[in-house]
Amino acid sequence: MTLRSAGWFAGDDEVAVLHRVALRLGPEDAGRPVIGIADTASDLNPCNAGFTALAEHVADGVRAAGGAPVRFPVMSLGEDLMKPSAMLYRNLVAMELEETVRAYPLDGVVHLANCDKTVPAALMAAASADVPALLLLGGARSAPEFRGRALGAGTDLWRALDDRRAGVLDDAGWRGLEQCLACAGPGACNVMGTASTLAMLTEAMGMALPGTALLDAVGPDIEAAARATGERLVAMVRADERPSARLTQAALDTAARVLAAVGGSTNAVIHLAAVAGRLGLDASLDRFDALWRDVPLLADVEPCGSGLVHRLRRDGGLPTVLAALGAGGLADLDAVAGDGRAWRDVLPAYPAPGADGSLVRTLADPVLPAPTLAAVSGTLAPSGAVIKVAAASPDLLAHTGRAVVFDSYDDMRTRLDDPALDVDPGDVLVVRGCGPVGVPGMPEWGMAPIPQRLVERGVRDMVRVSDGRMSGTSFGTVVLHVAPEAAVGGPLGLVEDGDRVRLDVPARRLDLLVPDAELARRRSARGAAPRAGARHLRGWPRLYADHVLQADRGADLDFLTAPTPAHRTFVEPVVGRS
Ligand code: FES
Repeated sequence: MTLRSAGWFAGDDEVAVLHRVALRLGPEDAGRPVIGIADTASDLNPCNAGFTALAEHVADGVRAAGGAPVRFPVMSLGEDLMKPSAMLYRNLVAMELEETVRAYPLDGVVHLANCDKTVPAALMAAASADVPALLLLGGARSAPEFRGRALGAGTDLWRALDDRRAGVLDDAGWRGLEQCLACAGPGACNVMGTASTLAMLTEAMGMALPGTALLDAVGPDIEAAARATGERLVAMVRADERPSARLTQAALDTAARVLAAVGGSTNAVIHLAAVAGRLGLDASLDRFDALWRDVPLLADVEPCGSGLVHRLRRDGGLPTVLAALGAGGLADLDAVAGDGRAWRDVLPAYPAPGADGSLVRTLADPVLPAPTLAAVSGTLAPSGAVIKVAAASPDLLAHTGRAVVFDSYDDMRTRLDDPALDVDPGDVLVVRGCGPVGVPGMPEWGMAPIPQRLVERGVRDMVRVSDGRMSGTSFGTVVLHVAPEAAVGGPLGLVEDGDRVRLDVPARRLDLLVPDAELARRRSARGAAPRAGARHLRGWPRLYADHVLQADRGADLDFLTAPTPAHRTFVEPVVGRS
C-alpha cells in the first residue's frame, strides 16, 4: 500500500528533501509508517503524568515493528484543575488532534489518553481523521488506605464531604483524607468514574488493545501494553485498518450496554453521542434508553457497587463484562477488538463472569437489576435528560416535589446552606445555567450538595435536576443534561421556587407541573434568551458558545458533526513548499 506520508517523503525534489531532513529520515526509511504519538502528559494533569515514561515504550514498539515514531504534545485536559471545566476544551483538543493529522505526514496515531476528557477528545479526533489509530489508556492510580479502607478517588471525597458537613468527620480527619489522596500517585480515578468508563468503552469498541482499560498506571503491565500498542498500530497502518471500520453502529450499541453494565459515568452518554455525531451514527437518548432497559449492573464497582477498578481488572475487566453481556446476546462478539481478532476469540483468555467472589457478575445474578441508566423527557426536558438509576435512591425515582431553584453555581453555593433557605427533604433542587452554552462548558455542577441543615438531620439524597453534568464518581438521584438548557431558552429557565416538579423514571418522564398559559406568560416576560447570555466572550469560549450543540447531541460543535465529502478527503495531503 502507499503510505499517506509518501506524499511528503517520496521523490528527490527539493521539497521531499526538505521534508525528510525535517524528520531526519534517510532513503533507508522509505516505506516505514510514520506513527504519531499524541502525548497528553502534563504537570498540570496528574492523571496523565505517567505518559512521560510510557511514550518511550510506545516508541520502542513502533520501532520494533518497523515504523518511525514521532511524539508531539497535545493540550492536556486535567479534570481537577481546569476551570470552568475541562469539558469546555474537549472539542478544542479533538480539533487540535484532527488538524495535526491533517497537517503532518502521519500514517497513524497512538493517542495517549487518560483523564476524563482526553479520552473522548481522542476518540472524536480518530473518528474524524480516520487514519489508523489506537488509544493507550493511562491506567488507574493506586488506592491508599484511609482509616482502614482503600480510598476510591472522588467517590470517597464526596462521602467525606457529606460527613464533614454533618459534623461526623472532624477537621483532623478532613486533613488526613487530603494527605491520603495526595499519596495516590499518577493515573485516573480508581472507581468507575468518567475516565475508567471511557477506557472500558474504548476497549469495547476496538480502539485500545484488549485488557488494557484498567491497568495500574505504573508498572510492567502498562509498559508492556504501551509497547504492544505501538507495534500493533504499525500493523494496522500496513493493513489500512481505520477507525471507521471499528466505530460502527453495532460497536456503539455494545458500548452503550457496557456503560450500563458497569454503572458507568453519565458523562459517557454525551461523549458517545459526540463520537457518533462525527460518523452519522444514531446515539439518540431514545436509542440508548432502549439499549439500557435489559442491562443490569454487572460490575460491582464504586460508585454504584463496592470494589475499585484494580480488582475489577484482576477479575477480567472489560473482556469479562463483555462475556457476561454476550451470553445474553447483549454484545456483538463478532466485532473486532483492538488486536484485530473477533471478541469471541479474545474472551477465552479471560476469567469467566460469576466466579466465586468475582466483581463481574452474570445476567442471572447481577449486582442490581436493570436499568442502571435511564433517559427521561417531558415538559421540563423536551429533548431529554439522563439519570444514573443505579446510583439513585429507589424511593425517589418516582417523586413529585416543590422546586427550589438556583440560577447558577454561585447562587447555589451562596444560598444552599443559608438557614433561611426554605427547603425540605421532599423538595427538588434545580441547578440551572450550567449547560453547554451556559457558563459556557457544561461543568459538573449538577449534583448540588444536600443543604447543611438537612444533611445534619441525616438526609443524604434528594431529587436534583440540572442542565449541567456530574462527576462520574458521584451518586444520588440526580437528573442531568436537561436539554434544551436554560441558557438557550429551555423550560428549565422558567421554573420558579415552589413550582411542582415530577420525576417518574418508570414512565421515563420529567415534567414541570405548571399550566401552559403560565409558562407562556413567564416566557414572554423573560424575553428571548441570548445564546451566550449577557456575557462578553472572546477566543475559544466565544467560538464554543456560538456553535456548541446541546447535550443530547454530544455537545460537539455544529460544524464538526456528520461526515461530509471533506470529512473523507481531508487527510489526502496537499503537499508543496509550505
Ligand atoms: Fe482525572 Fe478522574 S480526575 S481521571
